[in-house]
Amino acid sequence: MENIIKGAGILGLGSSLPEKVLTNFDLERMVDTSDEWIVKRTGISERRILENGAPIYGLGVDAARKALEDAQIGAEDIDLIIVATCTPDYLTPATSCIIQKEIGAANAAAFDMNAACSGFIYGITVAKQFVMTGYYKHILLVACEGLTKVTDWEDRNTCVLFGDAAGAAVIGPAEKGMGILSTHLGAIGELGHFLTIPCCHFDKSDIEKRLHENKRVVWMDGSEVFKFAVRAMAEATEKVINDEGISIDDVKLVVPHQANVRIIDGASKKLGISSNKVYSNVSKYGNTSSASVPVALDEAFRNNLIEKNDYIVLVGFGGGLTWGSALIKWSK
Ligand code: ACO
Repeated sequence: MENIIKGAGILGLGSSLPEKVLTNFDLERMVDTSDEWIVKRTGISERRILENGAPIYGLGVDAARKALEDAQIGAEDIDLIIVATCTPDYLTPATSCIIQKEIGAANAAAFDMNAACSGFIYGITVAKQFVMTGYYKHILLVACEGLTKVTDWEDRNTCVLFGDAAGAAVIGPAEKGMGILSTHLGAIGELGHFLTIPCCHFDKSDIEKRLHENKRVVWMDGSEVFKFAVRAMAEATEKVINDEGISIDDVKLVVPHQANVRIIDGASKKLGISSNKVYSNVSKYGNTSSASVPVALDEAFRNNLIEKNDYIVLVGFGGGLTWGSALIKWSK
């Protein structure tokens, strides 16, 4: 028993997607775009969207329940709930508190954090610290996003990119040398203006950039974010494998943030790895912000692409601008 609580690992995974599919052909009827353009420039064919006023937290509750079941622990065993989101239903109560109530995790503390699309990797890093120090034993991390609720459906530059989803992980003790090994986080606030979703304050440039009368929507300088993303994903991946003293050849699978297949391909090329080592489901779901990494991880695991003792890298980038990576020796 001595070497048990010497590491922190993923004990369970779950994900949730709305049923409603919005295809590129649907978008052709909404804005001046084409299936051909969207597929060629982004790799996205369709995305899932919440409809009829359904709350975003519902996806998080569903993903959380599945992760608990997968980890084979009860909601009352959770000590802390962390929700990564940049699209909360309410500023208060936090989405983590709503999920705590819905799943009946009466013994859990709860808070939200916002690192946009890097949120799940920021969350994994925070959760790891609590488990490694022994402060908490079981942490439920939920990445829960409804980007289509802050989309300008008249802006073809952004409305073709996003979808809604949630992914969840239970993080708890792992054997020494297993589970979440090195992690790396970064931010460059100086570039934050390249990707914005205002909430309670709109400065002059926020108002001018948005053509639609609703100013509480995503605005992005796509090509600036693109350049940053390719560089950040490659460098962050290299950082965690170098820190652990392994080589990219030792890594079984890279699970990147799913924003654009060209970003994934660009980063893979920089890393010198073939596309079959990099998981991608962006064609089906689009960019689901912080949910994209756990949804892809859950899917890869269910498709038997990850086995115990495999090295995998999670890597993401997003608004802030932020980035993060985590090297995991799979312990499940
Ligand atoms: N359909 C048809 N044409 C379009 C569309 C569209 N949906 N969108 C843009 N265009 C046009 C542009 O108007 C432009 O036309 P112009 O040359 O006449 O001005 C042309 O296509 C090329 O536009 P670019 O912006 O140069 O296209 P690019 O190849 O860079 O692709 C994209 C744009 C897909 C947005 C890309 O830059 C990208 O993926 N960026 C990164 C986005 C991202 O990953 N964000 C992640 C963070 S999200 C978060 O954290 C919440």
